[in-house]
Order: sequence, then structure tokens, then C-alpha cells
Amino acid sequence: MKLLAEIVGAEHVLTDPDLTASYETDWTGRFRGSAACVVRPGTTDEVAAVVRACAAEGQRITVQGGNTGLVGGSVPAGGEVLLSLTRLNLLGEVDPASSQVTAGAGVTLAVLQGRARDAGFDFGVDLAARDSATVGGLVATNAGGIRVLRYGSMGHQVVGLTAVLADGSVISRMAGLEKDGTGYDLLSLLAGSEGTLAVVTEARLRLVPRYRARAVALLAMDSTASAVAVLPGLRAALPSLAAAELFYAPGLALVRKHGGLAAPFPVEHPAYLLVECADLVDPTAQLVEAVQTAEGLVDARIADDAAGQRALWAYRETHTESIGAEGVPVKLDVSVPVSSLPALVDRLEPTIKAVCSGARAIVFGHVNEGNLHVNVLDTGELHEEVTDAVLQLVAALEGSISSEHGVGRAKVPWLGLSRSPAEIEAMRAIKRALDPTGLLNPGVLFP
Ligand code: MLT
Ligand code: ZN
Repeated sequence: MKLLAEIVGAEHVLTDPDLTASYETDWTGRFRGSAACVVRPGTTDEVAAVVRACAAEGQRITVQGGNTGLVGGSVPAGGEVLLSLTRLNLLGEVDPASSQVTAGAGVTLAVLQGRARDAGFDFGVDLAARDSATVGGLVATNAGGIRVLRYGSMGHQVVGLTAVLADGSVISRMAGLEKDGTGYDLLSLLAGSEGTLAVVTEARLRLVPRYRARAVALLAMDSTASAVAVLPGLRAALPSLAAAELFYAPGLALVRKHGGLAAPFPVEHPAYLLVECADLVDPTAQLVEAVQTAEGLVDARIADDAAGQRALWAYRETHTESIGAEGVPVKLDVSVPVSSLPALVDRLEPTIKAVCSGARAIVFGHVNEGNLHVNVLDTGELHEEVTDAVLQLVAALEGSISSEHGVGRAKVPWLGLSRSPAEIEAMRAIKRALDPTGLLNPGVLFP
């Protein structure tokens, strides 16, 4: 502890429970664990020195960014040094020649987006936790969000990383080379490694063009199947398509209750699809034309002004906080082949009720990727049973038990549903090679 204070300064080593509490509990309130201390380095060199000091003592480390994760991956199991990266918040100027920017691990997504937009660009990842989620955490979890349809996940935006390995050595590839086929692609390996292989301290990130002209439509559909079926036509007709998000009446009721929002339509509908187009010129007419003949469309609202668009997005974006206001949910983040999405939605309710009759499922997600967020409230003591039932259903549909939130601690027992024994052994071999003593994020990812 004394050594850590010498590295980062005594004011950046926290042990007072009043100060450490917020680092030791996850966003949902489901995962808690006490840390030996919270250490807040301000540079990559300080991170490396902290890691070396911990390695010398066999002291395990939990790595944390904005602590917005939903699978317990950034809170300690018990006794680890909690390495908080929020002070690594240096943000470079945008380089117009390469359309890239360098950001410290602690830069929030909102600040990064602001820097990109001020320079006439945009960033390809967006998600509701943008004000707190940080670059390091987004890389470590290979975060998805609402723009994957157009730009891919966080890993797709990464053209360079600096990271501290478990022995305290530093690897850095920050020249921003768009092509570099020299051996193993360590950048892709670290994106999605959930802090188990290295500590990402800065990233060189690709930016995308800024499309100021936007149109948003909220489509009331007669079924999930219709919401899925409409998408290929929208993708083909609308090169400007930037988001396609799905939600249902129970979620809409919750966001209206907690956000005081007006009903979007006079009556309830079986499924809601929110689509956004972004382009150089106003895409409203194109969007209207593309949706108006959609089979299964029962009603629609279109917004071509910023306030109206924000109001429509609020129905989707306030789901997470509204669910949290109801209680601590079992949060499951799954994906299935898009063609199986209607079957998954139909079978969810009976599957959950069979193990926990009083549970309430609130389902929403990113329809293009077949990615559903299954939030189950009122599970009492049955959260393991509910989790198991839903994840078995997803596996039976050849889906993934973790689509964009990571495995964390929450999904560890179910890893085998989405990865074969051979794959898990290959993953373990990589972990052993880079972190032989299991120093980084113990309890995350592996059983
Ligand atoms: C979202 O899509 O809003 C996020 O993944 C958060 C969540 O699942 O609660
Ligand atoms: Zn999501």
C-alpha cells in the first residue's frame, strides 16, 4: 500500500469505505466485493509500476473504467487492488488526415463524441451509458450499442492500443496504421478480453463522417416477426440507416411510468421498432417511403427535428434506468440468428414463468444483430434458475449467452453453452501465456 502511494501519490490510494464504496458495487447493484484499496494512476507508466508492484507481491488486480458494466466484470470478488483508470483522461486533437484520434482509457464516450463532432467527424459507437462509460472499458468489453448496424462494435474502431501486460511491461501500437498484417493481431485479442489479458491505457480510434441530417421513426408493428422481416428492405433502401431498435409494451409502460413520458400511440402494439437514418441531406422522405409499405406496420411516428427525435429515442434509451428503478433485475444479454429472434421472443415468457411464476420479463434490444436484452424483475432467490433457463433456450437456438456486455462474473458458469471445450482450452492457453499467475481480473470470464 505504501509503495502504491509512492507511485501514484497518497491522495490516489483510497481505503476509506465511504470513498471506495462506489467502486466496489456495480451499476446494477447486483455485484459487490471489497477491494484491498482503490488505486488511481494518472499515466501508463504509473499503471505499469502499480502492476509490477502488485505482481511482486502476488496481489491480484481488478481493472475498472466507468463502472457501467452489467455483468459484474469490473468489481472485485474480494481483496483485489482495484485499479481505476478514470484519471487516464488525456484526449488528443483529431487528426483530419487519418480521421483518427488518441484517447486515454479514462475518457468518457460522450467527451470523445464531442471532440469528434467539434472537428467535423463522429465516433462509430454510441450507447445510453455514454456519459460515464470510458474508452478503456468499451475496448475491454468490445462494447456494441446502437450503431453496430452501420459501424460495427468498439473493436472495429480501434486502430491502435497501449496496454500494460501482467508483468508490468508495456505494449504500444499507436501509429494508427490502417493496414498492419505483421503476425498476431494483438489489438483484436485485447478488444473483448475483459481486462483478463492486459490493462488497456490508451487507444488510437478511427472516426466516421458526421451526418447532421437525421430522421427517426417509431414503428408500431403487429409482431416481432414483422419487425424482423422489415429490416432487409430497410437496409437495402436506406444506405443512411443508422439504428434499428426493438422494444415491447411492458418496457414502454416502465419508461412512461418512471420518465413521465406520454404514450407514443393511442393504443398498445405487439412490437415497436425505432429506426434512425443519418445522412448529408435530409433522409426523412426516403425513410417515409421505405417504411410506408412495410408489411405488419400498424402505426408510425416520424420525427425530422432534434427535439422530436430525442423524444422518440427516450422510449428506447431510458429502458435500462427505468428497469433499475423497479428493482435489481437479472440482466441477460443474448443474441440469436436473426431468423430465430421471433421464436426466442415467443418462448421467453413461458420459459421464465416455468421456473419463476412471479417474474416479469422486460425485453428490448438491437434487432439487426439479433441481440436482445432480457431483463427479469421479481425473481427473488431464483436468479440462477431464471438465468439458466433463458441461456439454455438461447443455446438451443444456436445463440450467444453474451452478445455485447461480456461474460464478466455473471455468465461464467454458462460459458460452456457458447464455447466448446476446445475453444475454452485455447482461451485458457492464451490467458496462461499472458497472465501466468492469474493476476488480472480473477474470477472474470473463466470458471
Ligand atoms: C442498451 O442497449 O441499452 C444497453 O446494452 C444497456 C442494457 O442492456 O441495459
Ligand atoms: Zn445494448
